[in-house]
Amino acid sequence: MEKNMERENIIKNLENELNNVKTKNDLANVKALFLGKSGVVTNLSLKMKEIPNEEKKEYGKYLNEIKILVTNKIEDKNNEIIRLELEAKLNSEKIDITLPARHSLKGSIHPMTRVVEELEDLFVSMGYDVVNGPEIDTDLNCFTKLNLPAGHPARDTQDTFYLDNDYLLRPHTSPAQVRTMEANKNKEPLRIVCPGKVYRRDDDATHSHQFMQFEGLVVGEDISLADLKGTLELFAKKLLGEKTKVRFRPSYFPFTEPSCEVDVTCFKCGGKGCSLCKQTGWIEVLGAGVVHPNVLRMSGYNPEKYTGFAFGPGIDRFAMFKYGITDIRQIYTNDIRFLEQFDRKDAE
Ligand code: DAH
Repeated sequence: MEKNMERENIIKNLENELNNVKTKNDLANVKALFLGKSGVVTNLSLKMKEIPNEEKKEYGKYLNEIKILVTNKIEDKNNEIIRLELEAKLNSEKIDITLPARHSLKGSIHPMTRVVEELEDLFVSMGYDVVNGPEIDTDLNCFTKLNLPAGHPARDTQDTFYLDNDYLLRPHTSPAQVRTMEANKNKEPLRIVCPGKVYRRDDDATHSHQFMQFEGLVVGEDISLADLKGTLELFAKKLLGEKTKVRFRPSYFPFTEPSCEVDVTCFKCGGKGCSLCKQTGWIEVLGAGVVHPNVLRMSGYNPEKYTGFAFGPGIDRFAMFKYGITDIRQIYTNDIRFLEQFDRKDAE
C-alpha cells in the first residue's frame, strides 16, 4: 500500500513536471530530476541496502517498474517535442503559392532556321542529302569551276569580300555543287541541298550584305529541265501554299545552260498586283537551270553520261513573308525583342 502511494506520487510529480516541459532542454532537466545521479528514482534504489534480504527481490521488482514507467513517460514527451518541432518547422516553411513565379529564360527557334528546317525536311523526303559548305571558300570553287573564269564579266554581279587573291566570303552557295561533285570519288549520281549564309557588297535598303541561300543540285542519267520544273513547283507550293503558281523565264547563268529565273505568284496579293510585287503579281525567287557541261567536266563528271539541274533561291524573303517580317535587317541583328516573338511551340 505504502509502495503504491509512493509510486503514484512519483508519477504524479513527474506528470506535473512534464506538463511544463516545452523544449528538449526542459526535458533534459526533468530527466535529471528523476533518473539523474541524485534523482528520485536513483535515491529509491539507494534504499535497497536498508531492505531486509527476504524483501529485496520484491523491492527490486518495484524499482524496476517505476524506472520503466518514468523512462516511458519521458520518452513519450520526447517524441511529442520532436513532432511539435517538426510541425512548427513545416508551418514556418510553408510555400507561399501567391508569390509571382520566377520566369525561366526560354529560347526560340530563329525564323530563318525554321525556313531552313522546313526546306531540308521537304528535300530529305525526296531523297536529297543535306551538305554544308564553308563560308570562306576559294575563288576556284566560287567562280572558276562554275564556269566563270577570271575576268568573266558575270563576276561583277557578285562583287564580294575577298580576303586575299584566292579566298573570299562566298557570294553564293553554288560552290557546294563543286565541292560535292569533287568529293564524290566514283562520280555517282547525286542529289544534294546546301543551306547557308552568303555575302555580297550590297548596301541598299532591300539588300543585306549577308543573306541565306539554299542551293540544290541533282546529277544523274537523263535529268532534264522537266525534272527541275516539277521539283521547283513542289518546292514553291509546299513552302508558300498550294495555290502558288510558278513561272519560268529564260535567263543567263554561266554555270547552267539553259538557265532560267523563277517567279512565284506574289505571296502578299496572290497575283492580283500590289506594292510588294510592284503591281506585276509575280515575285522573283530563284535562279536555276540545267548544269553546264563545263561544270560537270571540271569536277570530274562525264557530261556525255550525266546531266543535272541546279537551283539557288535566296530564302530570307520566304522567312519575311511567312513571319510578316518587314525589314530584312531584323533577321540578322539578333534583337531579343524581335526573336522572342517566335515561340518555340509554333514551330512544332
Ligand atoms: N548562284 C546564283 C546566285 O547567287 C543562283 C543560282 C542560279 C544558283 C542558277 C544555281 C543555278 O544553282 O543553277 O545568283
